[in-house]
Amino acid sequence: MSVIPVAAALSGTDELIQEAEKSLMYVVTRPGNVMVAGKGSYIWDADGRKFLDCIQGWAVNALGHCPPVLTRALIKQAKQLINGSPSLYNEPMIQLAKLLTDHSCLDKVFFANSGAEANEGAVKLARKYGALRRAGAHEIITTWHSFHGRTLSMMSASGKQPWDNLFEPKVPGFIRVPFNDLNAVRNAITPKTCAIMLEPVQGEGGVHVAGKAYMQGLRKLCDETGVLLILDEIQTGIGRTGTLFAYEQYGVEPDIMTLGKGIGGGFPLSALMAKDEVCVFEQGDQGGTFCGQPLAMVAGLAVVGEVIAKNISGRAKSRGRYLVRRLKALGEQFGFTEVRGKGLLVAVELPQEKGPEIVQECFDQGLLINAPGPTTLRFMPALNISNAQVDEMMDILSAALRKVL
Ligand SMILES: Cc1ncc(COP(=O)(O)O)c(C=O)c1O
Repeated sequence: MSVIPVAAALSGTDELIQEAEKSLMYVVTRPGNVMVAGKGSYIWDADGRKFLDCIQGWAVNALGHCPPVLTRALIKQAKQLINGSPSLYNEPMIQLAKLLTDHSCLDKVFFANSGAEANEGAVKLARKYGALRRAGAHEIITTWHSFHGRTLSMMSASGKQPWDNLFEPKVPGFIRVPFNDLNAVRNAITPKTCAIMLEPVQGEGGVHVAGKAYMQGLRKLCDETGVLLILDEIQTGIGRTGTLFAYEQYGVEPDIMTLGKGIGGGFPLSALMAKDEVCVFEQGDQGGTFCGQPLAMVAGLAVVGEVIAKNISGRAKSRGRYLVRRLKALGEQFGFTEVRGKGLLVAVELPQEKGPEIVQECFDQGLLINAPGPTTLRFMPALNISNAQVDEMMDILSAALRKVL
């Protein structure tokens, strides 16, 4: 049997796209480009087209594409030990756990591979805590327009209305209430409630920021009732909102926190973190084949280490301010009804339902941005984007707005 390498068997983008349509399971409509390289804030397709990437793998590539610190760490570790076993220690696993616990208010960490998986772990931990400490309480209050992942229970937890009748029956035990509404949470708490779970900034829901009084009120409510506060910092963590973790800006500490996306800078990695008193898992309660795998651990060490050492969170804060200033100026010209966000997780509200059209026009002009809703544009560039690159983004966006609006 002769083996034909795929790259040699397929020539050119058209042929690749034809093969993709034939052999990849359909889940999303993708543009007819095949991406082959990335560096910092830019990504290139197979035909040599260059894009300024302000999506960055959906707020994943915290340091941009292929940051040398991450590439070096992966190459070095790949030559040493790619995979030990989840039931054996490895050195970077211990170092990364120390780094994360030293720099956060949480005491322990469990490593996983995706955000949804970390959130599943958070729900399991809260339910076990409820079983042991709160007379079997198992319900978790979540918020409308939240996004916690695509596993069945995370789809059940998320407040995404289009999912309401999808893949029924849903996993029971999630009670959804309006976001930023403390009374709604207060009224929803019963003896069956073990936790409230929310994002400090709802990312996929369109960049809606939790208010400070709301977050502090939630903490107080949790303290009074014994309910756990779970913060899903999968999108907001690792510098994205201008501090290493978004909770730092609220003056509250969560009992459980999940991290994903930016923590591996593009390498699949997530983490479930908790306070000591909440760590009630027993032997066999939680695990996973790739959990704590050395390659992912060195990726986390490289990215989180760099974010801390170079104060990338502070840079994200100042770049975020610059981006918001530029967007507000653009908004005066094009009638944006709102510019909102924290750090480098920013959105604008358009005067017309033209979000997807503007995203397409930007794409055609070499800029990747996202429209989480028909009237919303979202920006989540690399945390080390430069002011000059923000200016470049504004030039393309403004040309696209002029054409579409
Ligand atoms: C806040 C939040 N939680 C969870 C997830 C799910 O993460 P993953 O896609 O890695 O499972 C996402 C992804 O967008 C997210 O933004």
